[in-house]
Amino acid sequence: MRGLARLQRSVDTATCRVCVIGQGYVGLSVAAAAAIAGMRVDGVDVDAERVAGLSQGRNVVPGVADSLVSLAVDTGRIHFSTDAAIAAEADVVIICVPTPLVDHQPDLSAIESAGRQLATLLKPGSLVVLESTTYPGTTESVLRPLLETGGRRCGRDFLLAYSPERIDPGNVKFGLRNTPRVVGGVTPEATDVAATFYRHIVDDVETLSSCRAAEMAKLLENTFRMVNIALVNELAMLCATQDIDVWEVVRAAATKPFGFMPFYPGPGVGGHCIPLDPTYLSWQTRRDTGRRFHLVEMAQDINEQMPSYVADRVVEALNDQGKSVKGARIFALGVTYKANVGDMRESASLRVLAALHKRGAKVTFHDPYVASVSTKDMRLRRSALTDRALGDADCVLLLTPHSVYDPATLVDRAELLFDAQNAIPSRTAPSVVRL
Ligand SMILES: NC(=O)c1ccc[n+]([C@@H]2O[C@H](COP(=O)([O-])OP(=O)(O)OC[C@H]3O[C@@H](n4cnc5c(N)ncnc54)[C@H](O)[C@@H]3O)[C@@H](O)[C@H]2O)c1
Repeated sequence: MRGLARLQRSVDTATCRVCVIGQGYVGLSVAAAAAIAGMRVDGVDVDAERVAGLSQGRNVVPGVADSLVSLAVDTGRIHFSTDAAIAAEADVVIICVPTPLVDHQPDLSAIESAGRQLATLLKPGSLVVLESTTYPGTTESVLRPLLETGGRRCGRDFLLAYSPERIDPGNVKFGLRNTPRVVGGVTPEATDVAATFYRHIVDDVETLSSCRAAEMAKLLENTFRMVNIALVNELAMLCATQDIDVWEVVRAAATKPFGFMPFYPGPGVGGHCIPLDPTYLSWQTRRDTGRRFHLVEMAQDINEQMPSYVADRVVEALNDQGKSVKGARIFALGVTYKANVGDMRESASLRVLAALHKRGAKVTFHDPYVASVSTKDMRLRRSALTDRALGDADCVLLLTPHSVYDPATLVDRAELLFDAQNAIPSRTAPSVVRL
């Protein structure tokens, strides 16, 4: 590629100018990390409110640490804009736009729109990296042709690579820096320059032979997780019929030092990655081979059953206490999809509450991160987490074990405590029923 030596030098020395398209959880994280590593960064987003907030130095993106944003802003090297034209100045352009499902099908419109915009903007001798999660072939067969519509040629005028983001929101042990990066380029030069860029912000970089392999690796990771959660969810239902404690079973199996990795049952899978990403793979399998990706589809079915299964188990637990679900006061704790994270996307908790409401229960909830929730037939404002609210409930239903929920207090106050997450260590308290 023309200008390769200059690009390599600027990336090597972290003097390259970077433009990150999409300032969500993924884009802001990488933009901030690059600024902290010494690069000049422009963060571009179509959301003017988000850009205005970030430009004032406020962290307006849930899930990104305030300290990361202020550290980056304090360098004076990061700026935010709604105008993608700034990408014309960049040596490295990173695309971190959403890839949702619409009508159960992948929606690549944000990648396509970014690609069309960049086609006339790319500086000769630049590198483009796609980070959004997507099915294999997107970088080379969808993004590349769009980037070339402005007359520039991949490999001759710009380099193109794929590197999936793997952040686990709320994970205090593994963040952007110590989670290894996977990078695959259209050409070896693209892989090489992209890997050099990521080595400034990530400790370990694993290079792959192609973009397709890197795209597939990301989908394998999330599909692996989704399928294993389904396995243990189905096992939980089986264990309940045999009066076996599934948590004890998983704990025992996990003592095997090889060939086993523990996954835990719960009210369903949430967040916007694990429930969605495997659909990219099953959709592509159907499109390209006409066949079904049976394992993915079965696992999705099992996980989708879990909210109503949890509701059934609560009904059963009330029944064992001689109470009917109709009119029962159920105080649900935690409605976000994951502990200590304020994200409601695809959270299974709402479906559990809706199922209990449908059966006549009087449902209330508390979540430190969520002020109100609504479903098709129900609107609820958060109730206060008080001893009285715990004591008044016919059933306290622990759905998401945020750290504000003190197990001893819950056991002490609740008449009946249904623990959907094995968060209550006391195995002897008669008032505790576990999933
Ligand atoms: N959040 C995660 O935990 C996570 C982890 C790994 C991978 N991913 C993947 O990374 C991608 C981005 O995820 P996210 O969580 O950051 O999404 P997000 O929805 O939080 O943010 C995306 C941002 O892109 C902006 N945007 C949309 N179209 C744009 C365009 N054409 N130009 C400029 N900005 C545009 C939106 O306004 C939004 O601010 C997705 O493909 C997602 O699946 C997310």
